[in-house]
Amino acid sequence: MRSSTLAAVLAFGSTAFAAQLTQVSNYGGSAKAKPGMWVYKPDTVKSDALVVAIHSCQSSAQKYFANSKIPWHQGSDRKGYVTVWPSSTTECWDVSSKASLTHDGGGDSNAIANMIKYAITQYKIDPAKVFVTGGSSGAMMSNVLAATYPELISAVSLYSGVPAGCFVSSSGASAAWNNSCSGGQSTATAQKWGDVARAMYPGYNETRPRMQIWHGSVDGTLSPNNYQETIKQWTNVFGVSTTPTSSKPDTPEKNYRMDDFGPNIEGIWAVGVGHSVPSHLDASEAWFGL
Ligand SMILES: *[C@@H]1O[C@H](CO)[C@@H](O)[C@H](O)[C@H]1NC(C)=O
Ligand SMILES: *[C@@H]1O[C@H](CO)[C@@H](O)[C@H](O)[C@H]1NC(C)=O
Repeated sequence: MRSSTLAAVLAFGSTAFAAQLTQVSNYGGSAKAKPGMWVYKPDTVKSDALVVAIHSCQSSAQKYFANSKIPWHQGSDRKGYVTVWPSSTTECWDVSSKASLTHDGGGDSNAIANMIKYAITQYKIDPAKVFVTGGSSGAMMSNVLAATYPELISAVSLYSGVPAGCFVSSSGASAAWNNSCSGGQSTATAQKWGDVARAMYPGYNETRPRMQIWHGSVDGTLSPNNYQETIKQWTNVFGVSTTPTSSKPDTPEKNYRMDDFGPNIEGIWAVGVGHSVPSHLDASEAWFGL
């Protein structure tokens, strides 16, 4: 082959093999639940951080990745970090069974934790730079992961979810819907919500992920009450007051209000926004320190 032909072949090849979402068929671990694991490695990896992007109901890793409103693919290309896209085998994530609401309980949360562990080794991720985001059911799972695997996650940015344990099923069913929680009737004291989160990994006393919680004031799917309930949960876990230490109107955009509760919890209340609040890449990346 003449060298000019070879160069042409190589040039064509690099276009044809540009980064794409690819499936990892065996990410290991012994969890009974077996959601799919998909990974996006940008053409140029420039960061040792990992972002796990968790889809909403009736979606999948591929659909979520292709959704133009979900910006993590672009974030990955721009800043050069790897993203992992778990893909549920049920309509919504299992955030209701004991298996998923328990550290190493074998449920969906356990399987996603296994994906994180696999990614840390395989893609040389700094274990102190593992970040989780998600919308709706993916936001519920983000809260559940923060409670069940606090040792694995540095920070969470979740959009329009419910507190960890709010979707619990009294019969133990997996991936069950919970009308009391979605309707905003599952309210409790901060202490109670904190106890619910702590009970998912009893005895854990080390660092916990910093939490950024977004919710729309006119959410018709997961009641806006869930914003305050989620704030109660994590402020109690971090042992801080439910009264913000600072509150910024029109941040990060008009009609959004950013409430900080010390350095570890940030709430973003989106006035007039329904289900679910669109991902704000810059603000989420800033929370992650990316
Ligand atoms: C729904 O969740 C609440 C807690 O948020 C729980 O008390 C209740 O038993 C659950 N409902 C069902 C039908 O499982
Ligand atoms: C945290 O838990 C471990 C194991 O139970 C225990 O040895 C350690 O003393 C605890 N640390 C603190 C600060 O409570």
